[in-house]
Amino acid sequence: MQRTAPFDLRFPIFQAPTGSVAGPELAAAVSRAGGMGAMGLTWTEPDVAARNVRQVLEATHNPFQVNFALAFPPHALHPVLDAGAPFVTFSWGDATPLVPKVHAAGARAGVQVVSHDGARRALDAGADFLICQGVEAGGHVQSTTSLELLLPLVVEEAGDVPVIGCGGLACGAHVARVLALGAAGAMLGTRFVATKESRAHSEYRRALVEAAPNATALTVCFGDGWPQSMHRVLRNSTFNAWEAAGSPPKGSRPGEGEVMANGPTGPVARYSDMAPREGMSGNIEAMCLYAGSGVDEIRDVPSAAELIERLWNECRIEESS
Ligand SMILES: Cc1cc2nc3c(=O)[nH]c(=O)nc-3n(C[C@H](O)[C@H](O)[C@H](O)COP(=O)(O)O)c2cc1C
Repeated sequence: MQRTAPFDLRFPIFQAPTGSVAGPELAAAVSRAGGMGAMGLTWTEPDVAARNVRQVLEATHNPFQVNFALAFPPHALHPVLDAGAPFVTFSWGDATPLVPKVHAAGARAGVQVVSHDGARRALDAGADFLICQGVEAGGHVQSTTSLELLLPLVVEEAGDVPVIGCGGLACGAHVARVLALGAAGAMLGTRFVATKESRAHSEYRRALVEAAPNATALTVCFGDGWPQSMHRVLRNSTFNAWEAAGSPPKGSRPGEGEVMANGPTGPVARYSDMAPREGMSGNIEAMCLYAGSGVDEIRDVPSAAELIERLWNECRIEESS
């Protein structure tokens, strides 16, 4: 059986951290199937984050990653390291003081980079691997450069340190392309949101499946919760009305203050950065529907295991053609 050094994976396929729409069920399913599962734990209470890590460890002996977006304090870092998280990744900030903490706990650290300089800083900080994000990515987009341009530069700078490519990847041909550009693996976010084990609301998953080419926009529209940061979303009724009004700032946005949905975490306002999860009810279509530019390749909602097998088969066909 092929293993993917240094991660010890059957397949070089990584699930991207996708905040609250991907919980331990999805991370465990991906890792059990031979890819690397992920949980974004930036906004998760420390005790819940540690419990989620234990849940994945009980479900599989295979590796998985937890992620912290460093635009916010990583409150749950120590609890998840104590719980035994094997891989920790950092995005959106300076990981330099945190990489030694990950190593001290016996875990390995990955850093998301979006430039040549960022790659150098992460390598100097001791990162064990890099995640190279292209501007095609869904969710909050740190990158300003296409993956096709950026990945070869980062791979060259990284030398022997593995680089994982991500942003707009949604099918086996995309996986094959990043491997051909020198990546050690391909990381997919939106594609895994549309799986059976994800916590995304079924209407959100359906919107991903039905999305046409050019369905996404890179915007600051859904800025409540994380202002001043670009994100890629499906163009929906909220985005279209805001854009038609001239993309106004907070305070003069159309429908501002309206509640779009209610759920276990309380009411969700129109411009909230919160993506719709199962258990929420309301105007799901109008909420923040994060999606990468490859979304038009998504045509169904398979299990994570079915998806990984399909991606790898498609990738092998592409490589041999
Ligand atoms: C719903 C959603 C939530 C996300 N949440 C996070 C997060 O918590 N931390 C992070 O570093 N990136 C987050 N991202 C970005 C992904 O990690 C990754 O860069 C992106 O999904 C890759 O592009 P793709 O969606 O086209 O595959 C999120 C993306 C999506 C779609």
